[in-house]
Amino acid sequence: PSGPIIAPSILSADFAHLAAEAQAVDNADWLHIDVMDAHFVPNLSFGLPIVKSLMKYSDKPFDCHLMIENPERWAPPYAEAGAFNVTFHAEATEDPIAVAKEIRAAGSKVGLSIKPGTPLEPYLTILKEFDLLLIMSVEPGFGGQKFMPEVLDKVRMARSLVDSGELDLMIEIDGGIALDTIDEAAAAGVDCFVAGSAVYGAPSPADAVTQLRERALA
Ligand code: DX5
Ligand code: ZN
Repeated sequence: PSGPIIAPSILSADFAHLAAEAQAVDNADWLHIDVMDAHFVPNLSFGLPIVKSLMKYSDKPFDCHLMIENPERWAPPYAEAGAFNVTFHAEATEDPIAVAKEIRAAGSKVGLSIKPGTPLEPYLTILKEFDLLLIMSVEPGFGGQKFMPEVLDKVRMARSLVDSGELDLMIEIDGGIALDTIDEAAAAGVDCFVAGSAVYGAPSPADAVTQLRERALA
């Protein structure tokens, strides 16, 4: 792709007006969809029925981030429903390759996510099965947390492997991305930037998307 991908997270939107909130960021590239099950993470957000309903009101690519246990069972239906990308957590399954294959077979791109404390090295050999690597820059579970710059070492490692041709995937970052953090993430080599509170906490979510994109390009 050309240019940074900005993916507003509707976790920080008004859940009573999700359709309008999705349409308020018409200038975004993707819509980031945070699914939480109150088991893999301590919080609960929303699940497949709500995501399917929202798809009728937005033509953005849905970038689904599943913070759930048992992705073997629950992830493929998001792909079947028409998600552009389905990302699940490496920490949530014994067999990430099998889950990745099922998601791809169901018709969407597939991402692997790792928490801030999870090293990247053990997963390098399986990343060829993935279209996207999501490096968490906060502990998953809640919006509005502080960016953890130490995860950028993992971004730089992934970036160099992509640039050298050893890997072919997009690098996404999620957590604490705002006008004062997006530039260092961009410099480390991130392709896709998730932003929740920085977009939906702004007076104009669309203006926030524009400003984040400009800052990522600078
Ligand atoms: C956190 C979610 C994030 C969250 C980011 O578990 O995965 O996508 O919405 O929110 P901010 O941008 O406010 O850190
Ligand atoms: Zn997320």
